[in-house]
Parts: sequence; structure tokens; C-alpha cells
Amino acid sequence: MTLFEKCRTYTTAREVMASGYYPYFQPIEASYDTEVLIRGERKLMFGSNNYLGLTHHPRVLAAAASALERYGSGCTGSRFLNGTLDLHEELEGRLARFLGKEEALVFSTGFQTNLGVIAGLTDRDDHIFSDQLNHASIVDGCRLSQARVHRYPHGDLDALRLELESVPSDAGKLIVTDGVFSMDGTVADLPGILEVAESLGAEVMVDDAHSLGVLGKKGAGTAEHFGLVERTPLVMATFSKSLASIGGVVAGPEEVIHYLKHHARSLIFSASMPPASVATVLAALEVMEEEPQRREQLWRNTRRLQEGLRGLGYDIGGSETPIVPVLMGSMEQMLWVWKEVFTAGVFTNPVTPPAVPENSCRLRLSLMATHTDEQVDFALQVFEDVGRRLAALRPPESGA
Ligand SMILES: Cc1ncc(COP(=O)(O)O)c(C=O)c1O
Repeated sequence: MTLFEKCRTYTTAREVMASGYYPYFQPIEASYDTEVLIRGERKLMFGSNNYLGLTHHPRVLAAAASALERYGSGCTGSRFLNGTLDLHEELEGRLARFLGKEEALVFSTGFQTNLGVIAGLTDRDDHIFSDQLNHASIVDGCRLSQARVHRYPHGDLDALRLELESVPSDAGKLIVTDGVFSMDGTVADLPGILEVAESLGAEVMVDDAHSLGVLGKKGAGTAEHFGLVERTPLVMATFSKSLASIGGVVAGPEEVIHYLKHHARSLIFSASMPPASVATVLAALEVMEEEPQRREQLWRNTRRLQEGLRGLGYDIGGSETPIVPVLMGSMEQMLWVWKEVFTAGVFTNPVTPPAVPENSCRLRLSLMATHTDEQVDFALQVFEDVGRRLAALRPPESGA
């Protein structure tokens, strides 16, 4: 089969489109923080990673506008050559201090950060140990690396230990884990991982995409949450969630950051973060530090939604963060519920394999600090109504 023939004969998505249940690529016409406009209809946004609700904060918008004015719309080159602004360096200094690390390095996306760091740091004789539920960008970073990759069962530290013990003791070893698992909303056992790593001479890298701004007293992520900042060697995070922008960062020892600056191909061979995006992150960091009440509200909203959904009989797995999955099982049932919920005015994220295991489809809801009680209660009411209709239909499996 030729490549284009393969594309012509790929019908799965078209079949779902024809059935009227295709949920992806919904075009947002306008955004008002917790609400968006789609095809002229307002929807309550419960599918955004905008945890602290900073994408519309006046100081964040003003900082972006002034950077646009001063530096123009883009850097038109890589950090390595013509694409480094004083703003990038200011942001790196601020993030290193915030994350409690010697230095930090900023990439154009979180995805590129994982690709560049994992593949840049490891070589042919090294070994990477990656949790089976890690994000796709970690999986792809492992694929790009020349190192031998060991995927250990989710959260299974005995299996991790056995894998580590099976490789030469003097080999380079990197354990990579999501801090918060993005499809389940659970927190990694960082204390346990560090204990295994330290006893067997491995380095640890934590992906704090969903932890930055969310976990820890000041929002510095998983390591801060567990009081393990000093012992956690490498942290990466994205700016596309709590920090209301786009981009990514890795923070760690000076010599590691220096090495990555000269070996991370997704940094060296890709254009740098645009000025307005960098300024957005700087301003968002300031607001985050000055307004800790946003994080407190985020957690209040999280508890309200989690308790409400559990009370309605929905299975939200082990969610312990603002990511709240509503487990549905089959794709058909999940798409049916997604459409009912969407039509009733609530935007959620439908998740199917390969992002999650087979028959583990779910709607993923994410809380924002700026959701009001009324908005959370509206979403709960919609889930209650839809759950009742679902039960009446008596489908083959039931999440409610
Ligand atoms: C755990 C995790 N790591 C990395 C990324 C990639 O970040 P970005 O979307 O900023 O490229 C994501 C994004 O969804 C994520 O959830």
C-alpha cells in the first residue's frame, strides 16, 4: 500500500464524523476566561489547562502587548543563534530561583523540552526508565534517544528497582516520570522514586506540566509538594497550562543546563519562544506569586467538582488534582456522553486510546481558579441529567 493509499483508506475518524459524534478540533470563536464561544454558542470551559485563570489577567495581557511593541512579533531564529532575547534570560533566571535550581533553560514548547532534554542528555550506553503512563512527549523523547529504554508498569517501584538492578552499575541512568499524570490526575510517588534512584545511582527528571502553579505551597510543583526540592535533580515544566502561554523549561544543575544548551536539538534547531509569549510567562509568574489565593480557589473548586461527581456515582478514578477524569469505558458511550454534555453547554475533553489504555475512555475535566461555584454546580447538574438519561438507555457499560 502506498502512503497516500493508506491515508485514503483511513476511515475511522470519518465514520465518527458521519455519525455526528466527532468531538475534536472544535473552533473557538472567542474566549472569556471560563467561557468560550463555539459556533455562536457559549460553552462553560471545563477542558482547559488554564489552572490559575491567567490567560485574561490584565497584567499578563499588558506585558504581552508591550513585548510585542518592543521586540516585534517573533524571534525568527533559534536560541543558539539570533533568537535569544534578554527576556529569555530574565525568564530563565526567574524560573531557576522559583524552582530552587542552579539554572534553567527555556524551549519553545513543553513537548520540545522533553524531546530535547531526554534525547540530548542520554547516549547509546545509557538507560532510561519511563513510567508506562508518561506523557507522549516523554515517550517520543525516549524514541529519539539512542539509549536503551525501560518502560516500567505505572507507579510500580519494585519493577523499577528490578529494571535498574538489571543494568550495569556504572551506566548512565535516567528515571523520567510525570509529576501529575495528565490523564488520571494522580500524583507520582516522588519520595519512593527518589529513594530507588539514590540507592542505585540514577538521575531523576520530573515532568511538572500539570504540577507547576498547582502543587506545593508556592506552586513550584511536585518536588515542593513533597518537600523534596533539593533532592530532585531535574524538573521540566510547560508554560501552556498555569502560566497562560506556550513554551517549556528544564531546570537543574549548571553543568547539565550548559550541556543541554549544546546538545538539545529541539532547542538548537528550532526558533525560540516569541517575545509576547515570554513576557506573558514573566507576568504570570509574578501574579502567581502575589496572588496565592488563586491556587487556594483552584483547590476549593477541585474538591467541589470531585465530591459532586463522586456523589452522583461517577467513577473519577484516583483523581487527586484539578484533573478530573470521568471514566466511561467504551468509546461509543464516552462519545455519547460527551455530546450530551457539550450540547447542554459544558466543554470537556474526550480521551481515547492511545492516550489511555483500551476500554478506558474518559471525559477529562480540568478546573480553573476562576470557575465560580455556580459554574461548577451547573456542570454537576448537567452530569446528573446526562447520567439519568444514560441509565435510562441501559447501555452495555455504565460509568454513572
Ligand atoms: C505531562 C505533559 N508533559 C508535556 C506536555 C507538552 O507540553 P506543551 O503542550 O506545552 O508542548 C504536556 C501537554 O499536554 C503534558 O501534559
